[in-house]
Amino acid sequence: MKTVVGNWKMEVGTRESIALARGALLTLRGKRVLPELIVCPPFVALGEVRKVVARSHVSLGAQDLFFEESGAYTGEISPRMLEEHGVSHVIVGHSERRAIFGESDEMVNKKALTALGHGLVPIICVGESKEQREAGEAMAVVEAQVRAVLNDVHLRSKDELMIAYEPIWAIGTGSAATPADAIEMHNLIRRVVDELLAGQEGTVKILYGGSVNDQNAYSFLREQEVDGVLVGGASVKMSQFTKIVDAAGDIMEGLSG
Ligand code: PGA
Repeated sequence: MKTVVGNWKMEVGTRESIALARGALLTLRGKRVLPELIVCPPFVALGEVRKVVARSHVSLGAQDLFFEESGAYTGEISPRMLEEHGVSHVIVGHSERRAIFGESDEMVNKKALTALGHGLVPIICVGESKEQREAGEAMAVVEAQVRAVLNDVHLRSKDELMIAYEPIWAIGTGSAATPADAIEMHNLIRRVVDELLAGQEGTVKILYGGSVNDQNAYSFLREQEVDGVLVGGASVKMSQFTKIVDAAGDIMEGLSG
């Protein structure tokens, strides 16, 4: 099954989040084959969006979490708070968190472990910078990130976590990676994940993110190596998001014959 994740970032408030969530439900209406759809509104909108997507095919995700249960951590959101809000997925290690808020691989690893400990599916982001790609280091950088963020991770099933390959130079720039670049990196990530999580059932989904829009989504989603897309800017534009979800549905329908 293909997955589409909408990362609404700090782009929308509660009212717009409710409207987008309603739009997401409408998008799925009447479809024979449904992609997995996860929407990640800002924390303050989780409660209201939860009401909209309750008992639907749309899952609720958060954009981050803190790695402690509770305590004196002003401004942070704990895994228990997310559980209380009916959250099932959580993005961790987004490059904006890493770059602006100084999150290290070690912190991302702690967040992933915390999410897993609470039955939340972490969507762990990795990706190289432009300088690293130009220096020919992209593969080494991403491999090191994957190894670091999966440190000590033990799963009952590989379905309990997802990895999003998001090259930093492609995020919010309008210049996505090529599907060929994504495939090359997804194959590397798959190899490392299979080595680290050997012997466990299921599949770790590997998503592509970075300037995915209604024009290019199909070219990523149709690739067998791409299990889904993590969409930022285009996910808060209803008409674009609808087309991306449609593309995922069409590809699945094609696959199921
Ligand atoms: P973008 O963001 O689709 O706006 O490039 C993707 C992301 O940051 O997850």
